[in-house]
This record gives sequence, structure tokens and C-alpha cells, in this order.
Amino acid sequence: MKKRIQNIAVMTSGGDAPGMNAAIRAVVRSGVYYNKDVFGIYRGYEGLIEGDMERYSARMVSNIINRGGTILKTARSEEFRTVEGRKKAYENLVKNNIDALVVIGGDGSFRGMKVFAEEFDFPVIGIPATIDNDISGTDYTIGFDTAANTAMDAIDKIRDTASSHNRLFFIEVMGRDAGFLATYAGLAGGAEDILIPEKDRGIDSLVNSLRRSKRSGKTSSMVVVAEGEKSGKNVFEIARYVEENLKEYEVRVVIIGHIQRGGCPSVFDRVLASRLGIKAVEALLDGQYNMVTGFKSNHVIVYPLEQAITDQKGVSQELIRIIPILTT
Ligand code: F6P
Repeated sequence: MKKRIQNIAVMTSGGDAPGMNAAIRAVVRSGVYYNKDVFGIYRGYEGLIEGDMERYSARMVSNIINRGGTILKTARSEEFRTVEGRKKAYENLVKNNIDALVVIGGDGSFRGMKVFAEEFDFPVIGIPATIDNDISGTDYTIGFDTAANTAMDAIDKIRDTASSHNRLFFIEVMGRDAGFLATYAGLAGGAEDILIPEKDRGIDSLVNSLRRSKRSGKTSSMVVVAEGEKSGKNVFEIARYVEENLKEYEVRVVIIGHIQRGGCPSVFDRVLASRLGIKAVEALLDGQYNMVTGFKSNHVIVYPLEQAITDQKGVSQELIRIIPILTT
């Protein structure tokens, strides 16, 4: 049932992603545009449980569209996993006369939001933001494009030293459950091979393929490895195995790590965040609750929260298929 919404709260939750600030700005400014009051909650669900929030004016989100991180801070909250924690969160929303909650975050944050919305019949909407791009129903999540570009820049730099020394590099990128970052950064960076959670590459077949390319005249190579690569081995174990079985190469390992989470958001992420932020507010005012805003086939959409957290999203077969063609 459509409720009267005057006060909207917004938070960022889970791992930060470049473009979260642009999304906060869009939520605050569209709220003000529609004559609503917008409250920023600090440190995600942690701050909500503690009642750490303040009213945001349009001017309070000036000069943030270009900044990485999140001005609202973020956290992964253990307490929000408990009924008691969620009850405290609900009481703080009621105490502050908040009518609806916007959560900018990834799948973990959305799961918490769904439980909360059902428990207290509270209007919520999610804006997908994670560098992993692993939220179903949207083609892209906020932060993925920037992070993929950051990883690609790192790979480009590693290429210089790899070719100068005739070395083989294993480069770990983030992505616990999905290989989007590894695939996009690896393809764009011209990696020799890409190991992702969606497909078991087989370590011996990797060794054979690297041996073949060495014999075909390649003097250096780079293999991009997603954090959650299917074999379950970490990047050091993979590198050691290859080194032991392919004596022709001197091997090095680089973990790009949290560098991928920082930095100025790209044009794509800023525009995506702005569009999804506005859509989230408009959907709430239109009575669409327990939903998520997304970007599908070049259109901004609103779809059920349930779909965002239950459907599986992984790197497409089409992308997986072209990796070996490009490294022939
Ligand atoms: O979910 C985003 C992500 O960046 C993952 O790719 C990574 O595995 C994880 O967060 C790291 O989390 P933390 O910063 O808490 O160590």
C-alpha cells in the first residue's frame, strides 16, 4: 500500500565503491527537489542501530560527485544480523520520523535490508553499488567501471616491467564470488589468461597453455586471477605450482587489493549513480517498496529486491569464450 513519504533516510553499507558519493548526492538532491527531507545515516546499519544520523541539505552534498569513498562512511554490521539489532534500528527510524530507507550497497547489505523490511513492514529501496558487479538484475553496479579501469591501469604498468624482464606475472584482482573485474580488466589489459570463480580453468591446462605460448615466441605473460578463483587455490599457490612446472619463466605475484576500491569515479559510474539515485527516490514516492534500481539494456529500471539477492549473476559464456581466442 502506498504510504505518505516525507522523510527519507539514506546510507551506504558494505564495501565502499567509487560513485557512492554521487549516489548520495542524487538521493539528497532529488529528495529536496520533491520537497522531502533527507537524512544521512553514518556507518551503514551500525550507525542506524546507534541513531547516528543528520538531516542533509542540498548544499551538504556539494563537491562530492568527484570523490571516491563515501562521505556517510560504511561498515559491515554484525549486530544488524540479530533481531535485537534490527529492532534498535527500527526504533531509531521511528524516533526520527523516517518514512523510507535507501540503502546504497551490495548483496550482503540488500539481504539485511530485505529481512528488515519484512520484519517491520518498512519501505526500503536499494541502489546497487559494489566493485564486484555481482548483483543480479542490473547490467552494472556503481563502482565496477572505475575499479575495472584501476585494475587495467595496474595491469598496463605491470606489462612494462614484465616485458622488460621476460617474466610471468600473476595478478590478483578483487572478486570473491564473481569474475567481472578479472574478466574486464584482464581482457582490456591483454592478459594471457584469466582465472575466475565461474569456470574451472584447470591448473595443468594453464601450465600447458603458457608453455605453448612461450614456445610460440612470447617472452613475458600476465595471468589475471580473481580472488575467488574456482580451484580454491590462492594466487601464491597457483604461481608456485606454475613456476615448479614451467621452469622457462621467472614468476612474480602482484595483489592489486584495496587500491581497486578507491579513486575518483569514472564518467560512467558518476552518471549511473546519479540516475539510480534519482530513480530510487522517485520509485519510493511512487509507492514502489522492497525494490532495487538498476541499469538494463541502457535503461534505468526498478525491480524486486528478491530478484537482486536470489538470482545468480556471473560472467557470461560469451565473455568466457573469447578469452582464449584473444590470447592465441
Ligand atoms: O565486496 C566487495 C569487495 O571489494 C570484494 O571484492 C572483496 O573480496 C571484499 O570486498 C573485501 O572486503 P574488505 O574490505 O572488508 O576486506
